[in-house]
Amino acid sequence: MEIFLDTAKIDEINIMSDFINGVTTNPSLIAQSKIDNYDELIEEICRMVSGPVSVEVLSNDADAMLEEGNHLSTIHSNVCVKLPCTFDGLKVCKQLSKVGIMTNLTLCFSSMQALLAAKCGATYISPFIGRLDDIGHDGIGLVEEILEIYDACGYKTKVLSASVRNISHVVQSARLGVGAITMPAKILQQCFLHPLTDAGLEIFQNDWNKYKKSK
Ligand code: G3P
Repeated sequence: MEIFLDTAKIDEINIMSDFINGVTTNPSLIAQSKIDNYDELIEEICRMVSGPVSVEVLSNDADAMLEEGNHLSTIHSNVCVKLPCTFDGLKVCKQLSKVGIMTNLTLCFSSMQALLAAKCGATYISPFIGRLDDIGHDGIGLVEEILEIYDACGYKTKVLSASVRNISHVVQSARLGVGAITMPAKILQQCFLHPLTDAGLEIFQNDWNKYKKSK
């Protein structure tokens, strides 16, 4: 399972670089990073990780998205063009896939959007788990449904769990065998933690210190 960090913050990527395969961004995250030059920021992020860096197009119509996607792909070979699961986004996905440019179809909220993304050759499909849970739907249920459809139909598109809000989303995605997951730094940090690890470490250190003193 590939692990991506969902951020455009250089300091967060630096801290986690040993544990991530790549990065996913979106316009909201780029805006938070407060950096003026979009292309330079993307290039810097690409230099920091060895795998895909998803960068979202900002236009809504197919011609403009295609132009943006082609431009983004020239910034670095690891750029994965992030496109919305819309009629226009899927058309552009098909065109970019034909010329070997990686794509990540974002804002996926239904298994039919995921099916179309796979048919258009998407590299990744990003079902938004948290945002579905927010409106009382079953985000993980959608991930499961997409995996079942891809398996039954033999599609190679990787399911990338997105809009991940808690450790349970991570564990359930891994149990289902998703190809990838993206999460904010605060969730990835939580993955390292267990209170019994900290308590056990303290006991070991105390016992060792007592032993040294007794010598
Ligand atoms: O990867 C998609 C993600 O950035 C959206 O997350 O928490 O804004 O729903 P969220």
